[in-house]
Amino acid sequence: DGARILIKGGTVVNAHRAEEADVYIEDGVVVAVRPNIPVGDDNVRVIDATGKYVMPGGIDPHTHLAMEFMGTVTIDDFFSGHVAALAGGTTMHIDFVIPVNGNLTAGLESYKQKAANAAMDYGFHMAITKWNDEVAREMEVMVKEHGINSFKFFMAYKGSLMVTDDLLLQGLQKCKSLGALAMVHAENGDAVAEGQQQMIDLGITGPEGHALSRPPILEGEATARAIRLAKFINTPLYVVHVMSVDAMEEIAKAKREGQRVIGEPVVSGLVLDDSWLWNPDFTIASKYVMSPPIREAGHSKALQAALSSGILQLVGTDHCTFNSTQKAFGSDDFRKIPNGVNGLEERMHIIWDSMVETGKISVTDYVRVTSTECAKIFNIYPRKGAILEGSDADIIILNPERSFVMGAHTHHSRSNTNVYEGRKGKGMVEVTISRGRMVWEDGVLNIAPGSGRYVRMPPFGYIFDGIEKSDAAYRASLRAPVQRGKAAA
Ligand code: URP
Ligand code: ZN
Ligand code: ZN
Ligand code: ZN
Repeated sequence: DGARILIKGGTVVNAHRAEEADVYIEDGVVVAVRPNIPVGDDNVRVIDATGKYVMPGGIDPHTHLAMEFMGTVTIDDFFSGHVAALAGGTTMHIDFVIPVNGNLTAGLESYKQKAANAAMDYGFHMAITKWNDEVAREMEVMVKEHGINSFKFFMAYKGSLMVTDDLLLQGLQKCKSLGALAMVHAENGDAVAEGQQQMIDLGITGPEGHALSRPPILEGEATARAIRLAKFINTPLYVVHVMSVDAMEEIAKAKREGQRVIGEPVVSGLVLDDSWLWNPDFTIASKYVMSPPIREAGHSKALQAALSSGILQLVGTDHCTFNSTQKAFGSDDFRKIPNGVNGLEERMHIIWDSMVETGKISVTDYVRVTSTECAKIFNIYPRKGAILEGSDADIIILNPERSFVMGAHTHHSRSNTNVYEGRKGKGMVEVTISRGRMVWEDGVLNIAPGSGRYVRMPPFGYIFDGIEKSDAAYRASLRAPVQRGKAAA
């Protein structure tokens, strides 16, 4: 803070435009973006960005830091996760608050504690795992007082996080009335439980059983069901971690019909295939266990195409890391392998290398899918997701000529494994600036624990006045009911 930085000579990329310009930063905020800004005095730190791209820091819409899950806790907390993120060019993320015994306020309190040593800005979504009048009241408090504008419903994880259709409907209705966005983990949890039992009965207990027990049709079914329930309630829907063609095509169809559905692919689904789950080495295979599963070869290519075309809109990671000891909880039964993979540090590099370097998206699209779209969807644009006068100075400088190699020996996550082990590519984030602080520069970190701020996300407006009051009236307005038994005047 207080630092003054001038980034000179680079190509400044926003989602709407790429231009040759300098960027001047003061007190954590972008003050000017235009060509040939004079250096001024000696107290300004000048950074030469010639030949490089100056872009908004990444915003990851989907992470799980310090989450208690499947009998353990994710190994990256808000500090190590933030170190990894900043080293990889991500300057903000939105994590999922898990309620404590269904209690939202207690869940938020516990996540505020977890985030006490945050080193970059963060926001919260909140999971809804139970339903009663108290939960409905707390949702309103979360939106109106605590800056949470999105709620996630898990249609899988039977016996723990899973919601019934009844709860999902109540939740969609409540989200709509609050101007909040409903998010779904779309897999049919009852069918997954059945599929898992079938694999165990066949004697298939290894990580490949994870993929075999919950095939793409179960993701497609739940995605279609959630989309239709959201249509019935007439409220927007955000589908997290779209992993299969089956789910993606349901989103494409709904969009074609005019429905407001947002699809989020994650890095693992965009670039990996499930052959890893068949690796005879349990330690390697178990790394790749996440839900919905990483799919057979072919799905990732289709998901990339959907990201190019706009059917899918923004890229998350679902960063949810466990080390090999934790993954080994399921060495005799794949159902006990903690679900989740890394990606928070790798996302910006992998998307650049696999989408921009290959010509599948432009540099402006890159900024859109890694940053701007997330800021817009969660209502914090243009403070976040842009390099404009008045925006927070969350900025990266990427050198397109330098290459990277990924792996557990060099990453900053606390996990001893990495699903992108040995992955090589082009494009290197050389500088990360977090609200005006130089936190990553040529391989050197300068992290300030506790400097990360909670970003409040305001609710959205209604479609038009009154629509939230009565869905029955809305439906009747589309097709008028008959007035029977009334005498003509
Ligand atoms: O395997 C996963 N995705 N773990 C994190 C929890 C979730 O479903 O997002
Ligand atoms: Zn999920
Ligand atoms: Zn997740
Ligand atoms: Zn690194």
